Amino acid sequence: MILLNICLIVHLSGLALMFGTTVTETVTFNIFSKTFKKGAVPSLNLLALMDKLSAVLGIGAAFLILSGTGMMIITHGAFAHQIWFKIKLGLILTLILNGFLVGARLKSKLEKQIKEGDQVTDTIGRTKLFFLAQMTLFFTIILLSIFKFS
Ligand code: HEM
Repeated sequence: MILLNICLIVHLSGLALMFGTTVTETVTFNIFSKTFKKGAVPSLNLLALMDKLSAVLGIGAAFLILSGTGMMIITHGAFAHQIWFKIKLGLILTLILNGFLVGARLKSKLEKQIKEGDQVTDTIGRTKLFFLAQMTLFFTIILLSIFKFS
């Protein structure tokens, strides 16, 4: 029981770290895009800050996955066959793939376009949609984990 509680503490700390950095990244990106809309030259430092935040986000994700796997082992996979857990795992996979395949690509595309002085309005719009998708996925995963619908 004590081990399960320790895993749960690590799990919720990882959640706070990962969710907190996602919110911070979203706010940073909003500042970036507002500067751009005003016609000022957007600071590439803000994108560099977002890169650093992504690294912290990765630490939170590692906490979540390790402690989650720990809880699965301790409970002998008690949740594995429950529908909420299967949906949760699917959403986690979507969250990770969206981050790596869509988010990371949009960020490097934006950096490249700014350096080359290209039009970035479309990329900014798509990056906003990306953050909205990540937040929605997060909220749904948290709801599923707490209510454990079956
Ligand atoms: C973005 C990723 C994740 C988020 C946001 C998340 C969030 C949560 C939350 C909020 C709880 C509820 C804690 C409570 O009932 O007090 C929970 C429980 C749980 N999570 Fe996760 N989790 C994530 C990833 C994972 C992963 C990758 C696994 C397994 C491989 C996992 C396994 C579990 C298990 C087994 C429980 C139930 C613990 C219990 O009620 O005894 N989670 N999670």
